[in-house]
Amino acid sequence: MSSEIPPYEERIKWFHQARFGIIVHWGLYSIPGRGEWVMKNERIPADEYAQLAKKFNPKKFDADEWAELAKEAGAKYMVFTTRHHDGFCLYDSKVSDFTSVKTAAKRDFVAEYVKAVRKAGLKVGLYYSLLDWRFPGFFDLKSKPDSAKAMVAQAQAQIEELMTHYGKIDYFWYDGSWIPGLQKDEIAEFWETKGINAMVRKLQPHILINNRSGSPEDIDSYTPASKINEKEPGRGWETSMPIGDRGGWGYLHNNPNMKSVTQLIQHLVEAAAGEGNCLLNIGPKPDGTVRKEEVDRLRAIGKWLSANGESIYGSERSPFDRKMLGRTTAKGNIVYAHVFHWPKQGEITFPSIMNKVKSATVLSTGQQARIETGSSCRTFLKDLPKIPPDPHVTVIKMVLDGKPEAGCWWPSTP
Ligand code: GLC
Repeated sequence: MSSEIPPYEERIKWFHQARFGIIVHWGLYSIPGRGEWVMKNERIPADEYAQLAKKFNPKKFDADEWAELAKEAGAKYMVFTTRHHDGFCLYDSKVSDFTSVKTAAKRDFVAEYVKAVRKAGLKVGLYYSLLDWRFPGFFDLKSKPDSAKAMVAQAQAQIEELMTHYGKIDYFWYDGSWIPGLQKDEIAEFWETKGINAMVRKLQPHILINNRSGSPEDIDSYTPASKINEKEPGRGWETSMPIGDRGGWGYLHNNPNMKSVTQLIQHLVEAAAGEGNCLLNIGPKPDGTVRKEEVDRLRAIGKWLSANGESIYGSERSPFDRKMLGRTTAKGNIVYAHVFHWPKQGEITFPSIMNKVKSATVLSTGQQARIETGSSCRTFLKDLPKIPPDPHVTVIKMVLDGKPEAGCWWPSTP
């Protein structure tokens, strides 16, 4: 591998093309089924929590199934919790005994995952939590500095292992850099982030790194489910979201509040409209299988993407966004209107398009709309069905006579 780091515009290309990824939260916490924060939320002592490793022997874990499911969903990359805040490694770490290789399962799940994801043709992402609740120094830096130091040393060694033993890694997804009592600007110094990331880039020159290690790096990743951030053009950003309630990224046994397929597709569209990515979470069961509710949703998104994907993958911003009934994306001379609220008249009005609209086609059915223009710079798409052709989000592809140009704001009538 050449050690030259390619420029940002080159490294970020696949990420902008991808627009959709799947993150998987899975580990010991999947056994109680009360979310990945169960150890801290319920104040479970580390030695008691560690007993879960004796029960963690997921015979049905099949990384190929996960990767195939992600592919079927239309995702272009995956991210996997190699180690969450509980400190349990799903891979072979030489600097810890608390791993899936040294306990009941005796398997390196990260190795299996990486191999399967690569085989499926998806980009490989690894999630790693810097903090580890088993170190008293995490909670009390001042009076337990040696423990805090040991936690930092562990993180550095484990990241080096992850970057060395599994071939090419496309995306390193940090989490858990916060330290009680430390300000934001002290965090990078505490973890020696600069040095770690230099090491990561030396071992994996093409890698993308998210912004959760205390340094901005390549990608802004946001957790709040409803927050869609639109960054300056070119900068990679991503919004991650669980399918069920926000509190549970890891398996939540009772999770009645799952988002609908329509909500999930709209979320993906909103990210794409801001030139960002949607990273959708699944929390498999302790035996490694993915619950039906999640499988069904992923497949339905995949079905939608197979008809409408050209409006999402590699999409750009369009200047007509937010002016209508949903969101829009663009590609060169093409604008894709994602209609969230289909008008009952079967007629759609677009104000402010300064271009000539040469054709307008419902992407999933091929049906052409009749195009008319009117006063106040309005373009009307007529003869469309009265019920939405796609029950989730209907996409209309409009071919323009040039790059999309917005203008003529009401009430200025030419
Ligand atoms: C937060 C949570 C963590 C979860 C992550 C996903 O950092 O603490 O449990 O893994 O968000 O983005």
